[in-house]
Amino acid sequence: MPRRAIRLAVIPGDGIGQEVVAQGLKVLSAVLPQDVKLETREYDLGARRWHATGETLPEAELESLKDHDAILLGAIGDPSVPSGVLERGLLLKLRFAFDHYVNLRPSKLFPNTPTPLAGRPEIDFVVVREGTEGPYTGNGGSLRTGTPAEVATEVSVNTAYGVERVVRDAYERANARPRKKLTLVHKNNVLVYAGHLWKNIFDRVGQEYPDVTTDYLHVDAATIFFVTQPERFDVIVTDNLFGDIVTDLAAAVTGGIGLAASGNINPTGAFPSMFEPVHGSAPDIAGTGKADPTATVLSVALLLRHLGYEAEAARVETAVTEDLAARDGVTRTTDGIGDALADQVRSLP
Ligand code: NAI
Ligand code: MG
Repeated sequence: MPRRAIRLAVIPGDGIGQEVVAQGLKVLSAVLPQDVKLETREYDLGARRWHATGETLPEAELESLKDHDAILLGAIGDPSVPSGVLERGLLLKLRFAFDHYVNLRPSKLFPNTPTPLAGRPEIDFVVVREGTEGPYTGNGGSLRTGTPAEVATEVSVNTAYGVERVVRDAYERANARPRKKLTLVHKNNVLVYAGHLWKNIFDRVGQEYPDVTTDYLHVDAATIFFVTQPERFDVIVTDNLFGDIVTDLAAAVTGGIGLAASGNINPTGAFPSMFEPVHGSAPDIAGTGKADPTATVLSVALLLRHLGYEAEAARVETAVTEDLAARDGVTRTTDGIGDALADQVRSLP
């Protein structure tokens, strides 16, 4: 009889979200030890739901999502939904309601995967992006809207509490990695108030981590190094907006968004953390079987690690590494890649 259980909420979402999540679940089931029972509950949320009922995330569903160990999300969105409706009404609402203050985005250049960078540098870093503050809190508004004299504000919110907890998390992650290096990315020469808050807290907390080497880069300079010297990065900590932008760049230099995984994490465990591929619903290829489920499978690895299944997480990552190394240019379907990865995790020791 199973002794342990993972209660997983699943939000497949729209377009290829449905297709890639099915593969993620396939690999998750294959890698879990016999005695771990996987209980899933599916939520119909996203563009389809919004078109059908006008709802984005009803309170009752938000409440019932809380009753899970983690959430696996595919992708939400469709060009037919006005911009911002699902982002604010669903994705950001979840992040704020569940206090996902760590947005974790590993960036690794796997063997045999294409990179636009010459010379194939070693790329293996992780971005810890703040997830609940910055300019994403909805603190703003507009005046004289729609007139030639329109005024708009979008205030960046930075609290000592919010910065310290994410900076601490980043130090912990850096301290646990072999290189033990943490880079703060901000723009404190121009954004002096927020920038100094970040830098002061970064320096103060750093005193508790004598083994971690620290660095600071302005965000514009950081974008140069992502391309010219990505090997200089180990763990990066940054605010919500800078993190949003640099992680897409990071994905681009490490083989594209078909491989980029992410976690919206509440490290305290007070609410379930949510794991998702970085890419969207890709309406241009939805239903064709061309979607690469690898980013979702790597998100499942993050999920497993977050829940304490370290050996299983490592097995999923090894399976992905071996699968990528063996890819020979022959096109496989979404399902075909999912099957191969599931077989692979089963056969690994
Ligand atoms: P997208 O990431 O869906 O697609 C961009 C391009 O990458 C497309 O050409 C697509 O075919 C390709 N692509 C994406 N994922 C792929 C995969 N797994 N395998 C192979 N190719 C892949 O971004 P786009 O087109 O800007 O947005 C489409 C919809 O997705 C929009 O409604 C957008 O709002 C939503 N979106 C949702 C996100 C989320 O749920 N977190 C994140 C990004 C976009
Ligand atoms: Mg983004």
